[in-house]
This record gives sequence, structure tokens and C-alpha cells, in this order.
Amino acid sequence: MCCIPGCLRLARNPHRDSCEGPGRLPARFSDSLQTDVCNGKITSTYVSLKINKYKELLMERTLSIIKPDGVQRNLIGEVVKRFEKAGIRIAAMKMLRLTKQQAMGFYKVHQERPFFESLTDFMSSGPVVVMVLEGGDVIQKNRDLMGATNYKEAAEGTIRHDFATDIEKNVVHGSDSPATAATEIAYFFSELEICR
Ligand code: CMP
Repeated sequence: MCCIPGCLRLARNPHRDSCEGPGRLPARFSDSLQTDVCNGKITSTYVSLKINKYKELLMERTLSIIKPDGVQRNLIGEVVKRFEKAGIRIAAMKMLRLTKQQAMGFYKVHQERPFFESLTDFMSSGPVVVMVLEGGDVIQKNRDLMGATNYKEAAEGTIRHDFATDIEKNVVHGSDSPATAATEIAYFFSELEICR
């Protein structure tokens, strides 16, 4: 069996060049996975260790917020159901009410925008549910489930299309990049609060 998880090729002495191809492990992952196996024995323990490493490389986290309008309208279960149905794991979750200052801190990238005052008033107007979502490509998956910021432009079947009432009161927030996700998760959760 080839040394690269995901490759079904049978080979006695496989090399990366002969194993790469459509549906197989991309080179950027195989570089760190394929170490000394080509000249050694491949055990099932070895393979499962490598598969775990592969999963780790693909794993992402993102921050999700169910905004005050979503909580007030009893949409917590609906939103969580959509995440779980999409195979997203909820690694941490809590309900809290942001102060105006905390809302301003969270959205400080928008502080020059004309909607900043109104947005931070809204975000501190009632309880929110904050979650750490975990999974492969979860930042994009979550954004696909949420839909466009402006619910009028959101695709059918997305959370914002189905439930938002206003560009501001758009039910959910989700991080837009790995760097933002890291900052936003740390704004609400310590590493101890995130379950593995
Ligand atoms: P969110 O994804 O949380 O990111 C910033 C938020 O600002 C956005 O969702 C909306 O709630 C709000 N927002 C963005 N654009 C506007 C706008 N043009 N007018 C009012 N609120 C906005």
C-alpha cells in the first residue's frame, strides 16, 4: 500500500511523484507526511498516525455569533441545527450579553464606518450566543451557510436569506479569514474552554 493516506495505489516502494494525482494527497501535505516510510515498513499504527496528522492539517476553527435578533427570535436551535447538519463540530459555546464597550472592541475594524454606532448599540442590546466551530474548511463552510451580509443578496437556503430582516440585524456573524478567526475566538474564549 502506498505510504500516502488517501492514495489507494499498491506499491512496494512508493515515491511522491508516482503517487500524486487527482484525488490523492496534495504535495503540500505529503511533504510533511511522507517521511521515512518509502524504505521502511508501513504499519497500521504508522498509517493512523499519518491520517491524524493529515486531519490536523485540514482542521480549521472559526467564530460564530448568533446576534441579539437571532436569540430574541428563538433561532438558536435552527442555526445550530444547520451547523450540525453540515458536519460542523461545535467546540465551544456560551451565551452572554456584550456591553457597548465590548461590542465596540469586537467590531473595532469597523470603527470608521457610518454604521459603527448603530451596530454596536444593536450588538449590546440583548444576549448573543458565541461559538467556536471546528472542521475542515469551516471558515468558508460557515460563510456559505450564513449567506451574504446583505440578506437581500443572500442565496436561497442560507441563514440570512431565510431569517435576516435588515443588513444590520442579519442573525449571525462569522469570521472571514484564519487570522480574523484566531483574533475573534480569543476575544471570547480561552484555550481551556475549547473542547477537543
Ligand atoms: P457582520 O458579518 O457581523 O460584520 C459586520 C456587521 O456590520 C455586519 O455583519 C452587519 O451586521 C453590519 N453591517 C454591515 N454593513 C452594514 C451596513 N451597510 N449598514 C448597517 N450595518 C451593516
